[in-house]
Amino acid sequence: MYIEKNSIYYLVNIIYTINVDKISKETCQTEGRKVYMKKKLGVVTMAVLMGLSVTACGSGNTATTAAGTTAAGTETTAAGADTTAAAEMPAEGAELANKDKPLVWFNRQPSSSATGQLDMAALNFNKDTYYVGFDANQGAELQGTMVKDYIEKNIDSIDRNGDGIIGYVLAIGDIGHNDSIARTRGIRKALGTAVEKDGNVNSDPVGTNADGTATVVQDGSLEIGGKTYIVRELASQEMKNSAGATWDAATAGNAIGTWSSSFGEQIDVVASNNDGMGMSMFNAWSKDNKVPTFGYDANSDAVAAIAEGYGGTISQHADVQAYLTLRVLRNALDGVDIDTGIGTADDAGNVLSPDVYVYKEEERSYYALNVAVTAENYTDFTDSTMVYAPVSNQLDEAAHATKNVWLNIYNSADNFLGSTYQPLLQKYDKLLNLKVDYIGGDGQTESNITNRLGNPSQYDAFAINMVKTDNAASYTSLLEQ
Ligand code: BGC
Ligand code: CA
Repeated sequence: MYIEKNSIYYLVNIIYTINVDKISKETCQTEGRKVYMKKKLGVVTMAVLMGLSVTACGSGNTATTAAGTTAAGTETTAAGADTTAAAEMPAEGAELANKDKPLVWFNRQPSSSATGQLDMAALNFNKDTYYVGFDANQGAELQGTMVKDYIEKNIDSIDRNGDGIIGYVLAIGDIGHNDSIARTRGIRKALGTAVEKDGNVNSDPVGTNADGTATVVQDGSLEIGGKTYIVRELASQEMKNSAGATWDAATAGNAIGTWSSSFGEQIDVVASNNDGMGMSMFNAWSKDNKVPTFGYDANSDAVAAIAEGYGGTISQHADVQAYLTLRVLRNALDGVDIDTGIGTADDAGNVLSPDVYVYKEEERSYYALNVAVTAENYTDFTDSTMVYAPVSNQLDEAAHATKNVWLNIYNSADNFLGSTYQPLLQKYDKLLNLKVDYIGGDGQTESNITNRLGNPSQYDAFAINMVKTDNAASYTSLLEQ
């Protein structure tokens, strides 16, 4: 839908009254330069098209019309146009400096592992930098509520030793990862075991707490059917292996062995910051002992295990996140408005509805929303690698040329990223015409990953999943060279 100078179609097409009202944003190409414009166009008539000088696109440029027609040789303008040139991209074909290329952080949000404070320098690295993750607090609250609801519904059978205390153990992923912190807090808040520290819920691991005297948590109480039960966090620890990898499933499998031998029938519920660790504990112990185990991520194996007694999990809408991760890059590469194919349908009809994500402009962050997956609805979630239907339309290669993307995953052994997120990315990369090089880290050091970004110049965009949320500079410093 371009208006091209000297085109023979001009006179034919110009007779249309072109209602471009619906186009709020469009891209014009001006002598090899893309000028990104935000427009609110009224009705463009032939007279306007012929009579006025260009404000929208310069001579020789192109402009799209809602009528889908191509007119040319014209100096176009729109009546009542409110046109803002928002950004200029360098000459087409000219090499963009690596520091100016689109960059998306995903799954691990640049932030202080000590305070959780966002690293705004990393999030604003350049004008095409974003973060894609999910709403950690909303998800954490859902997870806590899911566990509490389960206890209430199953109160007749849940207290295995009948002592009136509901005992639980908790597997913590990474004490410095805001998602992990939020989930620990969510469980403690819902079960009444939370203790305040510096104005927030303490998320430190308790170690062991057989008698309820620990200070990082307290005994909670739940009133169910007229009876008051005590809720106790018997044990919790960060599941970090000896080499330093966090969220470590094998470590969780070992921990449940230790915990079950010291607490035995005192353990009524097993909770985990993710499904990788949750399933490891379920397979090692809780399945055989019929102890409900709760995770997070809705990986396919965890969802399937619900049929065998796994208590439930939370979908963090990885199908939406994986899409957004690549979509923000695609949009930046195309020089179109960032909302394209997100809140606003793209030319292939891809669009997300507001019930699956939120965008916080001031944080430069997209957050997918979470959904609880339990015995009631798990059959809707059996394949965690299925693309989200509303954003599953193939982009046209002629309008969205193939671009090269470098993408890393902090730990190739991470259960969620490996079994759910990456397979999704690999489906969306094709739909979005992105040729992605996937680099899997060892989960321990950034250098294991950055060593494999020897020549950033060969890529058009970058997608980064840090080992530690504090370490954004390990990557941005490479792009700045
Ligand atoms: C997931 C975990 C995963 C972690 C990696 C979290 O969002 O829930 O399963 O290990 O991301 O950063
Ligand atoms: Ca008990």
